[in-house]
Amino acid sequence: MKYYSLSNGDQIPGLGLGTWKSAPQVVGEAVKQALALGYRHIDCAAIYGNETEIGQVLTEALNQGQVQREELWITSKLWSNAHHPEAAIPALKKTLQDLGLDYLDLYLIHWPVVIQPGIPFPQTGDQLLPFTEDSLRGTWQALEDAVDQGLCRHLGVSNFSAKKLEMLLALARIRPKINQVELHPYLQQRKLLAFAQAQGILLTGYSPLGSGDRSASFKQAVEPQLLADPLITEIATQQGCRPAQVLLAWALQRGTITIPKSTNPERLQENLAAADLVLTDSQMAQIGKLDRHYRYVSGDFWALPGSPYTVLSLWDGE
Ligand code: A2P
Repeated sequence: MKYYSLSNGDQIPGLGLGTWKSAPQVVGEAVKQALALGYRHIDCAAIYGNETEIGQVLTEALNQGQVQREELWITSKLWSNAHHPEAAIPALKKTLQDLGLDYLDLYLIHWPVVIQPGIPFPQTGDQLLPFTEDSLRGTWQALEDAVDQGLCRHLGVSNFSAKKLEMLLALARIRPKINQVELHPYLQQRKLLAFAQAQGILLTGYSPLGSGDRSASFKQAVEPQLLADPLITEIATQQGCRPAQVLLAWALQRGTITIPKSTNPERLQENLAAADLVLTDSQMAQIGKLDRHYRYVSGDFWALPGSPYTVLSLWDGE
């Protein structure tokens, strides 16, 4: 397994298990199998609605000595309706309780979006509040307090543009270590990656396989099929591996963390094994040409009529 070093020397496993869309009654077994296979990095979030079940499995594995807490890297995310100074630490404590943990390795602001308190997901634009420097400062300071209290070891963000990262860097006492964004050959985000690397921030890529199991409300009518891309399948044939493994090896070889989701035992194993695959320079360069700035997760669900957000303002046109 490839590990990346953070500025204080802590190490994060480059490949983790994604749990977005992993259904209740299924996610627990997937995490159990993943731990048995050797996964040590689990990516969670309160809004995925499955942290309690993941927590039961983590507790069992830790109690049985199958893994030590220090070997695990557990990430979770602050949902947008707790994007308020007084709500952030209670939300983190709820996640810790659900996951059965004393501390997280990483806590991310899930979106640069603020939902009115008490509303899980907005149905109308007026249930959204503007994301401003002041709102970010208030939430970030609460999260910095959470680090001081030992509730999480590192802080980060998700779905932040370079412009929003700059805003955060200007006000942060504790710097963000990671920005989790959508990354795959159709959305390579080279400028954001270069900016993050220059700032000592790692990028984690979500939807590395194209997230084909998103619900209809998160999908466009017609979408490109990343796993069936002719170049990806051709390189898989050349390497004698599976297309998903090409996508994951590409992500690791360009210096990003990747968190493929699976609840299937064979595919869990296949994905983990991708960390040992080495693509040639020519294969990396060919994949580099596939970029088409295509977002599977467009963020249009925040751009409701009357919302302070548009798709353009969300990504700052990047
Ligand atoms: P499953 O959970 O049944 O394995 P992403 O990580 O981009 O969100 O993609 C997740 C989707 O990709 C899920 O539908 C998942 O299905 C599928 N998937 C995960 N691993 C593989 C693989 N190795 N080959 C093909 N599809 C995969």
